[in-house]
Amino acid sequence: MTSRDSFSGRFGIIAAAAGSAIGLGNIWMFPYRCGQNGGGAFLLLYIVCIVIMGLPIMLAEFGIGRKAQSNAYRAFRVLSPQKPWYMIGVMGIVAAFIIMSFYSAVGGWTIEYIIRSITNTMSGNHAEQFNGFITGSYKPLAYQFVFLALSFAIVMFGVRKGIERSSKILMPLLLLLLIILCIRSVTLPGASEGLKFLLTPDFSKLSGNSILLAMGQAFFSLSLGMGCMITYGSYIKRNEDLTSSAGMIAGTDSLIALLAGIAIFPAAAAFQIEPGSGPGLVFITLPVMFQQMAGGMFFSTLFFILLCIAALTSAISLIEVVVSFCVEEMRIRRRPATALVAGCIFLLGTLCSLSLGIAPQLSLFGMNFFDLMDFTSSNLLLPAGGFFISIYVGWALKKRITVKELTSDGTLKFTGLRVFYFLIKYIVPVAILIVFISGLLKTFS
Ligand code: PHE
Repeated sequence: MTSRDSFSGRFGIIAAAAGSAIGLGNIWMFPYRCGQNGGGAFLLLYIVCIVIMGLPIMLAEFGIGRKAQSNAYRAFRVLSPQKPWYMIGVMGIVAAFIIMSFYSAVGGWTIEYIIRSITNTMSGNHAEQFNGFITGSYKPLAYQFVFLALSFAIVMFGVRKGIERSSKILMPLLLLLLIILCIRSVTLPGASEGLKFLLTPDFSKLSGNSILLAMGQAFFSLSLGMGCMITYGSYIKRNEDLTSSAGMIAGTDSLIALLAGIAIFPAAAAFQIEPGSGPGLVFITLPVMFQQMAGGMFFSTLFFILLCIAALTSAISLIEVVVSFCVEEMRIRRRPATALVAGCIFLLGTLCSLSLGIAPQLSLFGMNFFDLMDFTSSNLLLPAGGFFISIYVGWALKKRITVKELTSDGTLKFTGLRVFYFLIKYIVPVAILIVFISGLLKTFS
């Protein structure tokens, strides 16, 4: 097995794990889901899910990874040999494939928008332009391919070099740019309606499976339930404080989603764009705003470049889960493994892209293939993974081991230990189960 690097310095691993967490989930998916599910009420549910489920599961994953010093699959084999817990790792690999199939499609859209910004070809009816683009035949595929090629090229150079450098500088820059966009958005005439939509919870607006979607959003956004954070945990040094790292990552991640909402909904209200207009929300609303902004094309180019990089750092973490499994468990060399995984993902991804346009027959349960992959991964596989991880840490793994990890061998104080145990043992699994069953009944009834 390859020796496992540790990330240099405290900021290194936080930046890298935050690079995984922050991505299209925050800026593309959160606003679109929030817009379709009542706004403020969805935001509130999402935050509740982050606090009571996301944080404990992130800590649990970090702990498992650092204790086992290995990828997610092996971690369960090391800690609980001869038990089927490693299936959580297998499920995570399946989830990574599925997520990458639609994630890379949306990653491709960001590249198209970088080019549109640079060439200043964003004008006219933005909704029509967006829909025309994603329903096209070869263009979305070509950009998806470019996005995948970029991500896989980065993965070939190994975890540390690729991820660490970029997220340290670029994520703070993204945060800054989002703040600028928020200021512009809330000062537009007519913006207050949008702000009200996002910040005042109206529970009557929640529809059947909104709670399931908010929970899925929390898992997806924090990269939980599929072993990603287990793998990152294995890179964290023994003397690092896992709890404050998890808190910082979850805090920054939710902040970015919130800022994306504040940048988008007021602008949508000002330009009379329907908040529930679906996956195109960001790609339609922001370009309208950029067009009317001083230096708009500069901000637009910068925004889509940063969004694309945020998407790349998340994609890298997903691909790394699959590639490190192939390298460490199946003993395939890194380059051929990476190429193989890339090919498979591109095939699945092609189906996602085409299902939006020229091949609408690619659908099941009333969802097109793109939505189906999105729904299956974020609302089914990730929460299911989170459920089993909570059962594992709460009931199967010896408490002594977990406490030792979370307190860095007793050298650090973890005042929330009892709360953590209460959540991970009872609240997290029961809550996931209830949301799951009620959400699924409503989705498929
Ligand atoms: N958290 C990433 C995002 O918000 C997506 C992701 C999900 C990455 C699961 C890794 C694992 O875009």
